[in-house]
Amino acid sequence: MKKGFIFDLDGVIVDTAKYHFLAWQNLANSLGISFSSAQNEQLKGVSRVRSLEKILEWGDKTISKEEFNRLMREKNEEYLDYISKMDTTEILPDVPKILDTLISKKQAIALGSASKNARVILEKVQLIDKFHAIVDGTNVSKAKPDPEVFLVGARQLNISPENCIVFEDSVAGIQAANTANMISIGIGDANTLHQADYIFKDFTEIKEEFINNLVSARKV
Ligand code: BG6
Ligand code: MG
Repeated sequence: MKKGFIFDLDGVIVDTAKYHFLAWQNLANSLGISFSSAQNEQLKGVSRVRSLEKILEWGDKTISKEEFNRLMREKNEEYLDYISKMDTTEILPDVPKILDTLISKKQAIALGSASKNARVILEKVQLIDKFHAIVDGTNVSKAKPDPEVFLVGARQLNISPENCIVFEDSVAGIQAANTANMISIGIGDANTLHQADYIFKDFTEIKEEFINNLVSARKV
């Protein structure tokens, strides 16, 4: 059978959380707000606008709309500076292997990311050609946990949602996949991602037999 395999980007394909962290931390500190790596965890899968809103809430700060937009622009400029230095060494373990396995099995592959920088990152790590569809923060209006990003991905692949499988590292992303009636696979910590149908620490734990079962499973 042909199934749709939809990958989140940040934290699943590449570890960009460290760059988001540096840029948000600089921004927060410039406003006199402290920002910890635990808080950064809470921004995973969260849109750029909502991330800044949360940081301002944590710091109990109110700013004008102009200032808000300026800060978002500055944060993204710093983030893009880190991204510009990325290369294939930043791909998370066994990601190319799983993509190539799926391609060899003639499966449909999409990206489903909240990021507006998704295409530039996929180009930097030279994986953009592996995807049949790319849905990112520029294509959707509702952020995860809303299922929009994955439903648009399924539509672009021309595969029904029940026949799609989502790989996600964020709680919001797992919830989005579940709401979309897709199989959710958590990549990361089992406690954090307990709502997922399956959980793996990383792609090195996923055996080809597991992929074969996903491909051949009948609709439930
Ligand atoms: C998600 C990240 O993939 O994309 C979030 O997990 C980030 O941390 C969001 O805020 C939006 O990304 P960008 O690149 O458009 O600022
Ligand atoms: Mg992610």
